[in-house]
Amino acid sequence: MANKMGATPISKGIKMKIAIILGTRPEIIKMSPIIRECIDQNIDFFIIHSNQHYSQEMDKIFFDELSLPIPKYNLNVGSKPREEMISQIEDLSRSILESEKPDWIMVQGDTNTVLAGAQIASKLGIKVGHIEAGLRSYDQSMPEETNRIKTDHISNLLFTPTAIQTNILLKEGIGQEKIYEVGNTIVDAVNQSIKLIETHTEFDHLKKKKYFLLTTHRPSNVDNQKNLQNIINSLTKISEKYKHPVYFPIHPRTQKQLDLFNLKLDSKIFKILPPVGYLEMLALEKNAQLIFTDSGGIQEEACILRVPCITLRDNTERPETVDVGANIVTGLNYSNILKATQTMLATKPSWTNPFGNGDTSKKIIQITKNN
Ligand code: UD1
Ligand code: UDP
Repeated sequence: MANKMGATPISKGIKMKIAIILGTRPEIIKMSPIIRECIDQNIDFFIIHSNQHYSQEMDKIFFDELSLPIPKYNLNVGSKPREEMISQIEDLSRSILESEKPDWIMVQGDTNTVLAGAQIASKLGIKVGHIEAGLRSYDQSMPEETNRIKTDHISNLLFTPTAIQTNILLKEGIGQEKIYEVGNTIVDAVNQSIKLIETHTEFDHLKKKKYFLLTTHRPSNVDNQKNLQNIINSLTKISEKYKHPVYFPIHPRTQKQLDLFNLKLDSKIFKILPPVGYLEMLALEKNAQLIFTDSGGIQEEACILRVPCITLRDNTERPETVDVGANIVTGLNYSNILKATQTMLATKPSWTNPFGNGDTSKKIIQITKNN
């Protein structure tokens, strides 16, 4: 059993300083409710942005759309090999943290930026809070799996989304006193943005359409020509069978690989989009008949928005989405994808979201104050 909110007394007037370290699109989105909570509660905080993601449509668009403050520090690391990126983020953060002297460092998720932030904090004796702790795909070929395991094992507070991750951490020997089961900040982020969609008439046309939504960016899918071609072929056949176009906002990694392999997408099937802003993405998800993805965050959002999802991977670190009937993990085998499509299109989405009520960021800030 993880600690529950309410077990610890509410503390008042506690002074603390938090450093929020982030670097990629999903971290900006999932940290946004924490940042808002820090502002609302007048907490002394600052943001270090590694700039692991830096293209306007992977970075600035989210700060603008979500009304987030400009990061106090931008490390400008950009794209580089994993080890180099991690050590550069650590080196550049060191002097900032030594002079700012925060009490806590908060990181969210499993990217290279997350591991770098947690490692430098731990080396400097600064307490680490890991948001979305305890996720495991048990797929060691994913860099994210190494990042999250290492981050969990050096963190002082581990904020798990559900009991599944709490149990994983307990089995790995992490002390119960460090683990708090709080839900996932993605629910807070979705709740805060979904109502804005109704005020944006430019997305209204999606409500009248029947379409599929595709996103893919995992190296195992897009850095391998055969796998990327398989995804394109499968979605082409499924689109033709159901007569639904496939909206496809393309991640920069994927665009780079499509260009490298010289793979062409049929414009009668694929509605190709650049990476889109958060409101447009939520509108695309909410109105889709079915979502095909290898994204972690999109598996969660599909579940929260009650849109069925097919995960184009051999595993998922979000098994609760499968358990509630919101997600089927198919891998890249066409007959599996087709069977899952038939199942999902016949399903009435009535599952309950397992990721919390949208108060995760409030809980995280309160627990941090209490510790
Ligand atoms: C990273 C994370 C992944 C997360 C994803 C979210 C790691 C190991 N991977 O993967 O966990 O799911 O972000 O999207 O931390 N590029 C641009 N512009 C950008 C960013 C990237 O053009 O703003 C291109 C570059 O060619 C770069 C490539 O995308 O080499 C990959 O970027 P990188 O940050 O290394 O990995 P992601 O695939 O984005
Ligand atoms: N997203 C977005 N625009 C896009 C694609 C994704 O705003 O074109 C959002 C999506 O809604 C989710 C997050 O980005 O909140 C997921 O990021 P991504 O798939 O890049 O990473 P992952 O979650 O797999 O780490």
